[in-house]
Amino acid sequence: MCGIVGYTGEDDITTALGRGLEKLEYRGYDSAGVALAESGGLRVIRSVGRVAKLEEKLRGVVTDARCGIGHTRWATHGSPTEINCHPHLSFGRRFAVVHNGVIENCRKLRELCEDRGISPVSDTDSELIAHLLELFFDGDVISAVRRTAEMLEGSFAVAALHAGEPDVIYAFRRSSPLIIGVSPGRCGVASDGCAAEGDTLLLGDGQYARISPAGARVWENGKRVSPGRISGFAVGSHGTAGYAHYMMKEIAEQPGAAARTIESLSRRRLSGSLAFIGCGSSYNAALSVLPLAEHSARRGASAFTAGEFLLTEKLSGRGRTAVAISQSGETADTVAAAREAAARGWSLLAVANVPRSSLTRVCRRCALTQAGPEISVATTKGFTSQVAALAAMLARGALRDEVRRLPAAIEKALAAEADAETAAELFAPDKAAFFIGRRADVGAALEGALKLREITYIPAIGLAAGELKHGSIALIEEGTPVVLVHTDPALKDKTLLTAATVKARGGRVIAVTHDDEVAAAADLALRIPDVPHLISPAVSVVPMQLLAYHAALRLARDIDKPRNLAKSVTVE
Ligand code: F6R
Repeated sequence: MCGIVGYTGEDDITTALGRGLEKLEYRGYDSAGVALAESGGLRVIRSVGRVAKLEEKLRGVVTDARCGIGHTRWATHGSPTEINCHPHLSFGRRFAVVHNGVIENCRKLRELCEDRGISPVSDTDSELIAHLLELFFDGDVISAVRRTAEMLEGSFAVAALHAGEPDVIYAFRRSSPLIIGVSPGRCGVASDGCAAEGDTLLLGDGQYARISPAGARVWENGKRVSPGRISGFAVGSHGTAGYAHYMMKEIAEQPGAAARTIESLSRRRLSGSLAFIGCGSSYNAALSVLPLAEHSARRGASAFTAGEFLLTEKLSGRGRTAVAISQSGETADTVAAAREAAARGWSLLAVANVPRSSLTRVCRRCALTQAGPEISVATTKGFTSQVAALAAMLARGALRDEVRRLPAAIEKALAAEADAETAAELFAPDKAAFFIGRRADVGAALEGALKLREITYIPAIGLAAGELKHGSIALIEEGTPVVLVHTDPALKDKTLLTAATVKARGGRVIAVTHDDEVAAAADLALRIPDVPHLISPAVSVVPMQLLAYHAALRLARDIDKPRNLAKSVTVE
């Protein structure tokens, strides 16, 4: 949620900040802004809407600044207006701040400011941080930073400018990530490795830093410390590599992502009494592997959305493992659920794509997926890598060989693109759509529905196929598209009956299957290779991703940045 950049050095400042903001835009994109440390004071330029709109505004700007901070926002406190947009200035204009996270005691802090005669101008919690810095400033910015950080409850990553030091950025954080990039003669800060340049250092929880072109100095509890260096992965490559959208590039990257993931986890085993926890697609990945987990462990496994896990009665975790699944590793609900699980005595395993993320720091054991940076807001390779990772660790006996064949099967499933494009014509914004399946196909169907919903805004419902007749069938009328996922030969009769039931009411059946008979019973088939049912969601989801992509393209939607969304949801 939201992206932070900061730059100090010889490069043109508006270009350097714009470059960083473009890379971070996937994290939030309802408004953006920069603060420049000019010789005459701090200057803030902000705009509602995309980074491109801000860049337009910056184009004509004449400035002597060589240092600045920038922010792209996904609104939480206050609507996406220019006033609520970051950076925020302190009452005396001596500090400018950009902030990610949520300040939980913001009501108390607002009162504190008001008691001192300061009237915040925005609805945000972030503005209060700027005021606190100026309130606590007595000539030493580092001590003002320390005192401010001590006052804040909740999660925060903050970059700040001080008018008195036009080439310095101050940074401090708790729970929200912040990365420092260091190159000769120039330094920067970013909330995400993809926008950090040079050698990257991770600012630790509770640490604060002074960053100038000469380098970064970091403190913790008043003492100088050396921050942790992070390896190349998070820096990752950007650009759509000739594809029209990141989503399509990332769909195409799935065979490689799955192959690297399976290879890297080939010796890991996951067994015992398991509970999977995740949000959105990561929860769908959990549902997708539940039958495999039950089959391999020969005992029940469960899946929780992270938010619901937090609300369960205090389930004791003694002797049980909670598997927290998250592409970003920064989803607030999932991180909180992992902390709660640890407190309840569960043994913890993180399945995450981003090393050194909040989740991997909370969980002692990690199984990293190897999808590489995922930029499109709608996850694709993140999901398939999660399923591949879990399948690699859960599968036993002959199924293990089948897991190694998954990347090739995913590659073959990509060939369904032309049929997916044809199928996309059956979907319209004013017409509900269904995605249904049984056992492992339920997770895949739910993920297919989510993909379509989030990038086309078509009301798409994901269901266990057996549930259709218990109410939802009322929505089926002439032309209603029903995507029926079928990968378990043992369930063919049931699938054929479901197809007939849908068609009898005028619904159009789109089968995602390897099976000729099921394909023949459908109005349209998206063919996938025959892979064992228990590990099939990594493959069956692919045609549905392509279907969602083409449906969104037909509707001219903003595919990589759908409305109201952000790449990682760092607020509970
Ligand atoms: C859907 C999507 C979201 C995420 C969810 C969890 O395409 O991307 O539903 O799956 O917000 O995110 P992570 O996996 O980063 O915890």
